[in-house]
Order: sequence, then C-alpha cells, then structure tokens
Amino acid sequence: AADMGRDLERVLISEDELQAKIKEIAGKIDADYAGKDLLIVGVLKGAVMIMADLARALRIPVEMDWMAVSSYGAGTRSSGVVRVLKDLDTDIAGRHVLLVEDIIDSGLTLSWLAHNMRSRNPASVEICAAVRKPDAVKVPIDVKYVGFDIPNEFVIGYGLDYAERYRNLPFIGTLAPHVYGGGTESAAEKP
Ligand code: PRP
Ligand code: MN
Ligand code: MG
Repeated sequence: AADMGRDLERVLISEDELQAKIKEIAGKIDADYAGKDLLIVGVLKGAVMIMADLARALRIPVEMDWMAVSSYGAGTRSSGVVRVLKDLDTDIAGRHVLLVEDIIDSGLTLSWLAHNMRSRNPASVEICAAVRKPDAVKVPIDVKYVGFDIPNEFVIGYGLDYAERYRNLPFIGTLAPHVYGGGTESAAEKP
C-alpha cells in the first residue's frame, strides 16, 4: 500500500504557494476576459484540482466543460497523436475558450488539443497550466497563464498522478525513485 511519507521525496510547491498563484492567475483572467463569455475546459483527469480552485477564484462568470484524452499507442507519447475519450458537451464556435491543465510536460497533449480546439472556429483559445517543465518540452506551446516552471523530475499531487495515485495531495512534490524504479524520464510516468 502507498505510504505517502516514504513515497514522497520532497515538496516542490506547497499548498499555500499553489493557492496564492491560482488566485493571482484568476485575477489576470478576470481582467483579460471582463465582459466576455468564457468557457474554461479542463483536461481530465489531471486538471480537476486546478479547475476547481481556479473556477472558485474567478470573479467573472464562466462555464465549465471537460475533455478526456489519451495518448495513442502503447508506451509512448512521442507521436503526439491523441485519442478523444470524452469530447466537449458544448459547441465552442465563436466562444472564448481557456484550456486548463495541471502540467505541460512534453507539450504534446496541449499542442494537439489547442489545434483541435482552433479547428472548431472559437473566438479565441488560450492555455492555463499549473506547472510546466521547460526541460521536457518537445513542442513549443504558447501558454498565456502558467503557475510555475519546475525541473524535469517525476512530480505528483494537485491532480498529477503516478499510476492513478497521489492526485489528491494538496501540494506538488517529487516521487521517491524507489516507487517507480529510478530514472527521471518523463516517459516513465506514461502507462
Ligand atoms: C498528463 C497531464 C497532462 C499531460 C502532460 O495527463 O495531466 O494532461 O500528461 O503531458 P505532455 O505535455 O507530455 O503531453 P495523462 O495523460 O497522464 O492523463 P491524466 O490527466 O488522466 O493523468
Ligand atoms: Mn492529463
Ligand atoms: Mg497521468
């Protein structure tokens, strides 16, 4: 069974730091989208925590929708091809869309998603992510709102999982190498 105390290596971003940053980002979004009709789109499952916190920190009215996607093919995400497991419920033509993610790792998921959203003729598409790994990025992503840049280490918590566990940690930490057998390849976190 998981023992959080032993599986966690160290806290990278504390709960307080995360909450303060989300409020700061929410203030920018409030200003940028004042008077506009905004749809925030969370990418399941990792984005649930930031979606819930961000939505409650916003003062402008928004609608919320969700996408669920999966990387295509076994054991690799390198193709950047993504399979849609759950599409939007909403037609986004003419609407302002903000894609919300927990993390930009290689950038392949958001690159594909942003392109997919733009093909539906929205008024705009922007991206918000809690954290980004600059050293892991394979595709440059134009991110309007990013919480923190983090080192290319195996991170868990605040939506981020290892084998579906640790998502409910209220902070972001690094996973002890003994849990996943060492190494820092981001591909290791993919099933
Ligand atoms: C993780 C994370 C992002 C994506 C980032 O999702 O939540 O969605 O990978 O990686 P990338 O930048 O290399 O594409 P995952 O596919 O693990 O699904 P999950 O959200 O259900 O954990
Ligand atoms: Mn995800
Ligand atoms: Mg995951």
